[in-house]
Amino acid sequence: MARQPARDDPQDLVLVEHPASRRGPDGAALDPPEPLPGVALVTLNRPRALNALSFGLLLRLAEAVEALDADPGCRAIVLTGAGTRAFAAGADVAELAAQDAASLAAAPGFRGWDRVAAVATPTIAAVRGYALGGGAELAMACDMIVAGDDATFGQPEINLGIIPGAGGTQRLARAIGKARAMELVLTGRRVAAAEAERLGLVTRVVPAGEALAAALDLAAAVAAQPVEAVRAAVEAVRAAAEVPLAAGLDVERGLFRGLFGTPDQVEGMAAFLDRRPPRWRAPGPPAGAADGAS
Ligand code: CAA
Repeated sequence: MARQPARDDPQDLVLVEHPASRRGPDGAALDPPEPLPGVALVTLNRPRALNALSFGLLLRLAEAVEALDADPGCRAIVLTGAGTRAFAAGADVAELAAQDAASLAAAPGFRGWDRVAAVATPTIAAVRGYALGGGAELAMACDMIVAGDDATFGQPEINLGIIPGAGGTQRLARAIGKARAMELVLTGRRVAAAEAERLGLVTRVVPAGEALAAALDLAAAVAAQPVEAVRAAVEAVRAAAEVPLAAGLDVERGLFRGLFGTPDQVEGMAAFLDRRPPRWRAPGPPAGAADGAS
C-alpha cells in the first residue's frame, strides 16, 4: 500500500518544555525534577512517522523556537525528536510528493529550517537515530549537534530524484568540506555517529541514551554564561559560515568592541582582577522593550 501523509493533532506536533528539566543517563527526567534555568527543550513529536517534517510541524516548530527566542528567560534551546528511532527522517515524503515548484515556493512551512537557523538564542540538536534529509538539515541549522552513538546522518534526496532543499548542500559542504559533502549528496550514503564525529559534523558523540541529557547539560552550561557575550559569540561564529574572512573579522571586531561597557564585561573583568567568581546579571528584557532595562 502507498504511504499516506499521517494525520496529526497540530497542537501536539511540537512539544515545548521551558525551563527544561535535567535528564538522567537513560533520558528520563530526574525525580524530583531539576529545572535547568534558561534552558528550553523543543521536541519534534511525530514518532510514528520517525518525526518526518510535515509543513504543519515545520510551522509549529518555527513559531515555538521564535517564541522562545523572544523570551528573555530563554538562553539556550535544545531541539530533539520524540522516541528513540529518529531525530527526524526528513521532510514528509508523502506530502512532498504532492508538491510542484510553485506550491513549494509558496509553502510557509518550507521556511521552517531558515527560521530556526535565524534565532539569536544558541541552539543544540540532540540526535538519536535517523537524521536524514530535512532532519539532517535541521540538525545542521542548529549551532551544535550532540549525537547518540546510534545516530545516522545522511542526505538521501538523490534516491528520490531530488537534491537537499533545506540547506543540505550548503551547510554540509561548509561543515565537512566540498569533496566529502559531494560524495554524501551524490550517493545518499548514510554516515554513522562515529564517522560524523570524525568528519566534524557533530560537536560530540555520547552513548545513545545520554544524548538528550548531554545536550541539556551543554545548554545549561551555555545558559549560565553572560547572555550578551553568548549572543555576540553566536553571531560571530555563525558569520564564519556566511561571509568571507575579512567581512567575518569585521563582524567579530564590531561585536567584540560592542561588549565593552556592558555590565557583564565590567563585572567579568573586575571579578578576574579581584580574584573572585563573576556574578552575571539576570537576563534583560527582550530587545526593543522600553522599560526595566538593567
Ligand atoms: N516522510 C514521511 N514518512 C516517513 C518518512 C519521511 N521522510 N520517513 C519515515 N516515514 C514513515 C514511514 O512511511 C513509516 O510509516 P508507516 O508505518 O505509516 O508506513 C514510518 O515512518 C516508519 O518508517 P519505515 O517503515 O520506513 O522504517 P524503516 O526502519 O524501515 O526505515 C528509514 C527507516 C530508513 C528512515 C526510512 O523510513 C526512510 O528511508 N525514510 C525516508 C528518508 C528520506 O528519504 N528522507 C528525505 C526526505 S526528502 C527531504 O528531506 C527533502 C529536503 O531536503 C527538505
